[in-house]
Amino acid sequence: MTDSFQAPRGTLDWLPPRSGARRAMIGAFAARAERAGFREAQTPVFEEQGLFARTAGASSEVVGKEMYVFTDQGDRELALRPEFTAGIVRAYLEHGLSREAQPVRLWSAGSCYRYAAVQRGRYREFTQVNAEAIGSDDPAVDAELIALQVGWFRELGLEGLAVRLNTIGDRADREPYLALLRAFLDKHLGDVADDVRRQRDLNPLRAFDTKDPASQAVMAQAPVIADHVGAEAAAHFDRVREFLDARGIAYVLDPTLVRGLDYYSRTTWEVAWPELGAQSGIGGGGRYDGLAELIGGPPTPGVGFACGVERVLLALAAQERLPGVAPRCDAFFMVLADAARPTLHALMEAARDRGLACEADLAGRAAKGQIKQADRVGAARTVVCGDDEWARRVCLVRDMTSGEQIEVALDDLVGHLADLAGGAQA
Ligand code: HAM
Repeated sequence: MTDSFQAPRGTLDWLPPRSGARRAMIGAFAARAERAGFREAQTPVFEEQGLFARTAGASSEVVGKEMYVFTDQGDRELALRPEFTAGIVRAYLEHGLSREAQPVRLWSAGSCYRYAAVQRGRYREFTQVNAEAIGSDDPAVDAELIALQVGWFRELGLEGLAVRLNTIGDRADREPYLALLRAFLDKHLGDVADDVRRQRDLNPLRAFDTKDPASQAVMAQAPVIADHVGAEAAAHFDRVREFLDARGIAYVLDPTLVRGLDYYSRTTWEVAWPELGAQSGIGGGGRYDGLAELIGGPPTPGVGFACGVERVLLALAAQERLPGVAPRCDAFFMVLADAARPTLHALMEAARDRGLACEADLAGRAAKGQIKQADRVGAARTVVCGDDEWARRVCLVRDMTSGEQIEVALDDLVGHLADLAGGAQA
C-alpha cells in the first residue's frame, strides 16, 4: 500500500517542506484556541462503530458509504474515526467532564478517515483541527466557536472566504417540517434525480445537497427549514447573529444549508474558499444539543466545528500564504580535522543545550562540500576546526554575512556562540 491510496500522489503535506507549514498552522490554531479557554483533548483513532453510526446518522454519506469499519480479534465492530465530535462527547460523558465548570471547551488535531473518491482536497486519510464547547446552550458560545474558526483563518492570512450560516431548529421542529418537505418532494418525484428520490425516505434534508442541476432547480422552490423553526430556536439564532454582528464577522444566511451529519440542531455553518472548486469546504460546524442523548448520556448542549487541514493548506498555497518555516541554523560546524570530530560534536550538542540551532557535516564531505552545505542550510556562522586549530585547541568562528572571522578557544566556544546568538539562555 502506498500513500496514493489515501491521497493523490504529490498532494500529501506530511513531508518537508510542507510538513513545517502544516505544524505551524496547527500550532497557531492550538494557541488561538487556548487563548479562548480551550484545552487539548485526544480521542482514540478507532472506536466502536456504533458510536459514529448512532450520532452521524445511518442516512449520512459518512456512515452509509465512507466509514472504515472492521472487526477485531475480539469480534468487536470498530471504525476508524471519520470525525472527532462523537468521540469527544463520549469522552466528556465517560470521564466526568460534566462536573467541571461548563461549558467544557476542548480542541483536537489529528487524522480522520473517510472512504471517499480520492481527488484534490478529498482524501481517505486527512487531518482535522476541531473545537467543541460542551455543556452550555448560551448563544454566545455559538459565536465564540465561529469567531475562533474565522479568527484562525484571518490569522493565517486567508482571503476571500465565504461563511454560510443557518438554523435548522430543534429536533421537535424538524418532524413537522420534514413532513412538509416530503409532501413537496412527492409532488416533484418525476423531476428529480434518483439520489434525491432516495433521500425522500432516508433524510429528505439531504435533497438540498444534490449536485444535479435539474434537481437543484426543484429544490430551490422547496420549503426551507429556517422558516419553520420554533420560537426558542429562532430567538437563539437572532442572538447568535447579534454576537457575530457585534464582532464584525461577515456571513451569508443560507436557509438551504444542511450539514452532512445528522446530529445537528439550531445553528449550523460552513466556511468555503470557493476557488478550491468541488472541495471548497474548508470547515464546518454547528450545535448538537441532542447528541449526548444519542449515546446514552443526559441532555447536554454542545457546539463545535472542524476544519480540513489539507484543504486549508491548499488554499494557503494558492494564495501564497503558507506559513514561513525557514529552518534556522545558528552555527554550522566545519570539522576538517578528523581527530577533532568527537570533541567538536560534543561542543555542538552543548550549544544546542543552550538553545542554539547547530549542524555539522554527517556525510564525510570535503571542505568545499561542507561550505556548500553550510550555505544550503542558511547557517548564520561557521565554526571551522582544521588540523592546525585542533593542535592549538581553538577554532575559527566566521560570520557568514560579514565574512568577519575570529579565533576562539574551544573551552570558550559555547559561551561565545550563545553571546553572539543573543536570544539563547546564559
Ligand atoms: P465535516 O463538515 O464533515 O464536519 O468536516 C469538517 C471539514 O473536514 C470539512 O469542511 C473539510 O474541510 C474536511 N474534510 C471532510 N472530509 C474530508 C476528506 N475526505 N478529505 C479532506 N478533508 C475533508 C465534521 O466533521 C464535524 N465533526 C464538525 C463539527 C465539530 N461539528 C460540530 N463539532
